[in-house]
Amino acid sequence: MKPTIIAANWKMHKTLQEGLELAQELIIYLTTHPLSHIQVILFPSFIHLEAIQELLSPHLKLYLGAQNCHDQLSGAFTGEVSAAMLASVKVSYVLVGHSERRQYCGESHAQIAKKIEAALQYNMQPIFCCGEPWEVRARNQHHDYIAQQIKDSLFDLSPEKINRIMIAYEPVWAIGTGKTPDASDIAGMQALIRDILARHYDASVADGVILLYGGSCNASNIQDFVGIAGINGVLVGNASLYMKDFLPILNALPKD
Ligand code: PGA
Repeated sequence: MKPTIIAANWKMHKTLQEGLELAQELIIYLTTHPLSHIQVILFPSFIHLEAIQELLSPHLKLYLGAQNCHDQLSGAFTGEVSAAMLASVKVSYVLVGHSERRQYCGESHAQIAKKIEAALQYNMQPIFCCGEPWEVRARNQHHDYIAQQIKDSLFDLSPEKINRIMIAYEPVWAIGTGKTPDASDIAGMQALIRDILARHYDASVADGVILLYGGSCNASNIQDFVGIAGINGVLVGNASLYMKDFLPILNALPKD
């Protein structure tokens, strides 16, 4: 059975010391309580990556991802971080197209597609985030909206490459708000995403893709999300910032 993925997006939180402290606490917990049914991926800020990497060891099911990478491989892009730089500190995953980057940094579908290519080129697994804003949901156009996001950023990928990405469905209105879609809604969305992939690629791509749900996940609702057939894990923001909130999420997951 595939492990359930718990991806922890720390966003722009934590100094180096605070981040190391949290990572250390988690490592101690996972060393004394191995959770073979779960794979935890931490997405701290860039400044944490190298120091946290040094704390990891292969027997822990704890992995490291970056929250973003640039779409160009190198060049005069002040303040940016390339896929090659991330690979050089042994990052395994990269979030791409998070709604906060689309909203505040104006990331386009074309840039997102290039970021995915850049991450894949350096053997990191991109987690492509998609999700509709509230106005779209209110008009009941969220299925078309997600279909378009997927088409615009993923459809140029070869079948070999699409097999190497994960997709996180994160409705924008659910992020950081305490609101979440119904389980049946998320089930419908995962079926839609797999259907879109099956039509453009084939059924094995559609069945094999790892799909996460994100948006206001916590210990009280996590079981509802991971219990949905076809949902392979969650992307957690706020509730991943402190052990008092994060551990109950890990412990709420069914063990078989
Ligand atoms: P949240 O964030 O859990 O705080 O809603 C999720 C995300 O943005 O990935």
